[in-house]
Amino acid sequence: MKKKTLSGVLLAGALALALTGCSSSSESGGNGGGDLVTVGFAQTGSESGWRSANTESMKEAFSEANGYKLIFNAADNKPEAQIAAVHSFINQGVDAIVIAAVVTTGWDDVLKEAKDAGIPVILEDRTIDADPSLYAAWYGDDFEKEGEMAGEWAATNFGDTPTNMVVLEGTTGSGPAIDRATGFDKAIEGTQITKMDSQTGNFTRADGKTVMEGFLQKYGDKIDLLFAHNDDMALGAIDAIKAAGLVPGEDIKIVSIDGVHDGMQALANGEINYIVECQPLLGPGTEELVKKVLAGEDVPKQTFAVDGAFDQEQAKAALPDRKY
Ligand code: AHR
Repeated sequence: MKKKTLSGVLLAGALALALTGCSSSSESGGNGGGDLVTVGFAQTGSESGWRSANTESMKEAFSEANGYKLIFNAADNKPEAQIAAVHSFINQGVDAIVIAAVVTTGWDDVLKEAKDAGIPVILEDRTIDADPSLYAAWYGDDFEKEGEMAGEWAATNFGDTPTNMVVLEGTTGSGPAIDRATGFDKAIEGTQITKMDSQTGNFTRADGKTVMEGFLQKYGDKIDLLFAHNDDMALGAIDAIKAAGLVPGEDIKIVSIDGVHDGMQALANGEINYIVECQPLLGPGTEELVKKVLAGEDVPKQTFAVDGAFDQEQAKAALPDRKY
């Protein structure tokens, strides 16, 4: 496939929109007759509310109206399926590839293949272990900082009293699961918080519930605190805690990460105690990077999104304007 430069495509698109007043375009010429830039996006899957918001943001940013044909693949959180999707993007001769990696490892061979084919790779959201020369840029959230912020909240509120904690981890081997655990553990070092157990709930509500049921059977009302690597697992755990006759947010304090609508609602309702934000609306920033890379411009290797944090009162105030 002929390689295209985005600046020309966008210019043609902008001119066409100005002349016709159209708000969308088709591949066959709705963009002023110019070709669309083809981007293959290898998404992790659809495990969480965060992921839905992220997918939506990417689809909006890489729309035909913006000059793109987006080939979207969700890998159901299976690393092999995701690598197969990237192979397929290379075989289709896409202009650029964007990856939100399921796990950090196993990327070198397929990234070398993309490099040999002259197709730039931009990472969004998830980090990987591959040699940085194999991709053009990464844009996402600082997962270790998120874990640290959650841990600091726990240390401040429970660090001086003996506190039994359980942890629901994200997908094993994923950047956020690894880094959030590191950041949290660092922040609670030297406190009286004891990690009784830590297991993966795969970032899903269903697994969060099942694993929390197991923790409750094993430790009963000895559990004081839950750290969930994302809101969805915390929400699943809340169902399990209620079913066990305990009160989430009171009998078992809960801190989680993401700040999606349902999580924020549970926080405002008093069922979660603190949420550290993970920004999912990464589409516009990723599109900017793709555009610059295709135009041959220099881009930073790493760009961090800005994350906040919410207690129960702050969640009540933020909810009405929350976009996801
Ligand atoms: O990589 C970001 C994480 O992936 C989010 O915290 C989680 O909800 C998602 O599925």
